Amino acid sequence: PASGPLADRHVLVTAGPTWEPIDPVRYIANRSSGKQGFAIAAAAAEAGARVTLVAGPVHLPTPPGVTRVDVESAREMAEAVSRALPADVAVMVAAVADWRPVSAAGIKLKKRGYAPPALELAENPDILATVAASPNRPALLVGFAAETNDVLHYAREKRQRKGADWIVANDVSGDVMGGANNTVHIVRQDDIVSLPEMPKDDVARALVERFADAFVR
Ligand code: C5P
Repeated sequence: PASGPLADRHVLVTAGPTWEPIDPVRYIANRSSGKQGFAIAAAAAEAGARVTLVAGPVHLPTPPGVTRVDVESAREMAEAVSRALPADVAVMVAAVADWRPVSAAGIKLKKRGYAPPALELAENPDILATVAASPNRPALLVGFAAETNDVLHYAREKRQRKGADWIVANDVSGDVMGGANNTVHIVRQDDIVSLPEMPKDDVARALVERFADAFVR
């Protein structure tokens, strides 16, 4: 039996980018490394939680004690998340692609003799907002907001619009994506907790400590 501040809790974490296929060999992606989400999954497991980590395509080892579900596209991620519910805490750290090509070609698109294809895009499901509205909504639902400017303004707005309890805002104007450090602000209903710049592993432990506190109160 697990012990620790999150013993007997199920923590669901999404992490990494998504890949949105154009054809069998090409895709749209983003610069998310998955490091912060994997660190949160690891810290939650260390705190005694049962952890499900729904991971986009990244080159990271599975943290000890974590159940990992690998996905590629946003739609696959949405399905894996809904299958993983219920959870006590859900932390949506993944950098989900906003758009996907409307239809992926079944065979490789050819260059020779053809004009460049126009990519028609469709909006992906918002996984965080979907979980917020679901009958299985976790008691504590945490989203992330990576912004380059007006970080707190957008985070407050995002918290409301998506129905999350907390939004962890991080300033990605520097080399946060792929980097080892992060500077975050936890935007909650009644306050904002700003943490100093620190390694992503320490950010993860600081967040997990606050998840546990949220259940004690
Ligand atoms: O709107 P934006 O992408 O900035 O919102 C970021 C937050 O929403 C993150 O927690 C991210 O994991 C989540 N998100 C999601 N599904 C999407 C887009 C974002 O879960 N399609």
